[in-house]
Amino acid sequence: MVDSATQRIEQLRTDIDEHNYRYYVLDEPAVPDAEYDRLMRELRDLESKHPELVTPDSPTQRVGAMPSNTFEEVTHRVPMLSLDNAFSAEELTEFDRRVRDRLKRAEPVEYVAEPKLDGLAVSLHYEDGRLVRAATRGDGYTGEDITANIRTIYSVPLRLRGKDYPAMLEVRGEVYMPKAGFEKLNRALADRGEKTFVNPRNAAAGSLRQKDARVTARRPLELCTYSVAVDNENDLPNRHWDCIQKLKGWGFRINPEMRKTTGVDECLEAYSDLLELRNELPYEIDGIVFKVNALELQRDLGFVSRAPRWAIAQKFPAQEEMTVVEAVEFQVGRTGAVTPVARLKPVFVGGVTVSNASLHNMDEIERLDLHVGDTVIIRRAGDVIPQVVKVVADKRPKGAQDVKRPERCPVCDSEVVQLEGEVVARCSGGLYCGAQQREAIKHYGSRRALDIEGLGEKWIDILFDRGMIKTVADLYTLTIDDLKTLDRMGEKSASNLVDAIAGSREPELWRFIYALGIREVGEATAKGLAAHFGDLQPLMEADEDALQVVPDVGPVVAGHVRLFFEQSHNQEIIQALKNAGVRWKQEAPSARSSPLSGKTFVLTGTLTEMTRDDAKAKLEAMGAKVSGSVSGKTSYVVAGEAAGSKLTKAESLGVPVMDEVEFLRFLEAQGV
Ligand code: IVH
Repeated sequence: MVDSATQRIEQLRTDIDEHNYRYYVLDEPAVPDAEYDRLMRELRDLESKHPELVTPDSPTQRVGAMPSNTFEEVTHRVPMLSLDNAFSAEELTEFDRRVRDRLKRAEPVEYVAEPKLDGLAVSLHYEDGRLVRAATRGDGYTGEDITANIRTIYSVPLRLRGKDYPAMLEVRGEVYMPKAGFEKLNRALADRGEKTFVNPRNAAAGSLRQKDARVTARRPLELCTYSVAVDNENDLPNRHWDCIQKLKGWGFRINPEMRKTTGVDECLEAYSDLLELRNELPYEIDGIVFKVNALELQRDLGFVSRAPRWAIAQKFPAQEEMTVVEAVEFQVGRTGAVTPVARLKPVFVGGVTVSNASLHNMDEIERLDLHVGDTVIIRRAGDVIPQVVKVVADKRPKGAQDVKRPERCPVCDSEVVQLEGEVVARCSGGLYCGAQQREAIKHYGSRRALDIEGLGEKWIDILFDRGMIKTVADLYTLTIDDLKTLDRMGEKSASNLVDAIAGSREPELWRFIYALGIREVGEATAKGLAAHFGDLQPLMEADEDALQVVPDVGPVVAGHVRLFFEQSHNQEIIQALKNAGVRWKQEAPSARSSPLSGKTFVLTGTLTEMTRDDAKAKLEAMGAKVSGSVSGKTSYVVAGEAAGSKLTKAESLGVPVMDEVEFLRFLEAQGV
């Protein structure tokens, strides 16, 4: 009995390891998630019936061990060195010259070019193909034992693949947090009012050095390996590149952007190619590493102090810099949201000069404990708008000013209100507020709304400041003669603009609804409303219940839509638009069928992208039933973070389970 269990357990582990390898290392899943879940479930069941058969390398053990108080010290048998840096093409050329001088070679040297991953170096120790220990770099000579934490990372093989691995093997690589996982983690931390991480590297470090490996297990960490440090058999290939291929064969993830380069010119080309790719990569890199490919030449070159002579890191421009906050001002957006903006002493970061950074809301200022006069760390990664990620507390000057919540709108002096449970403070002036009027016009003419060509934000500012337009309806009264009075507006552009405005008189209904700028009504919702109601009048008359029948419309959105059409100034603007000849195209109303009727859902755990109430409303709007308990009749369980007994029950009953990402995709597939 136990024998057959042993065999089955072994088979399951081999199969699951194989699926993990395909999913996490090769990025080529072989089976659907449901099949993988089924295998895991079977293995977990068998192991709970035969606890004596549980081994540390079982795939079930990735959930994280119990907390420990300390990390044991580990002495590295081969020190973990660092790399010298080159900050320019000249410095890289110098490096290549030094290499060739030392090797007394005139011909170009072959290198391997690898992204310099921005994470933490780790060393992994395998005996007879099993992971026995993992350590941080520490000071290069001794690090900390982080085996329990490393086991939780799916791209770390707990057992090596194949047969040709040495009995003793020490592998080095970088543990890092992909950008998407980092952003999700920070959002969740901020939502809970907890401290966020400055960058993915810090997040990876903080996650890896958790005393409680169960926390690490929930963090999206990955491992990429880049060298073999020790093996007892000494029959590795004699080129770095080929060693890396060996690692891949043994089940390690290696970086797909690695390539061979011969001579410094190809190295410089690899540098520019990778720099161009930088923003598109799903993880952060801070440079490119060049390593002499032939291990024999590496041995000839040797080391100086703590860095090899056979490798160098050419750094990319920094994405974080320090600067000083000179002022905090408040901007008012289209929906009245009052957003604090930090005016900065200009600083060059992420390839551009940055002099403003959004501070999002007052809570963010409090979370950062930001004062005017503070020195802050600014981060600009890729095309993302610059962020203030941290205040450098010990650089706060005497007399640094606290930032006060504004009580009145800086534009129209109306009261600023912050509803309970909302983080955003809003000007209560509505369309009486100049800022909101102006932004409403910008939104109306924008590309995704009515797409009025030539009506850029700059022209709207000018027209608005001159008092030539106050509402969107005024656009249709502008004449060529009016426009010609503006600086740098010639006859031709004026006539083009008047034509473009006139050309926007017959929009599709959904575009018109979107262009009105109702809070929380994006393009998808506008399309849903247009398809459902077919015309504006029934939409204007719909009560909240009628609105919530539309996919993607929950109580919150329904409330905003209702409020918008109730306000007399909005009704006046719509009337004025009609008078100006605006006629949207009607759609055939399609009181949408209920795609999920007859289906029962159970929601459990914490969702990060929406509240459970919102999820429930969405499902119900599509005809589904949402129930509080799992049974054999449940169609799906949606399991958010830290889902508990309902998830376990669903798994034991074989009810399909979706995590939040799958749920969002599912909603999307329903046309929500
Ligand atoms: S090789 C003896 N390769 O950079 C060479 N390091 O400054 C040792 N790193 O601590 C490192 N990507 O954390 C190497 N492809 C790569 C790397 C890489 C990132 C990090 C690593 C190391 C630091 C060296």
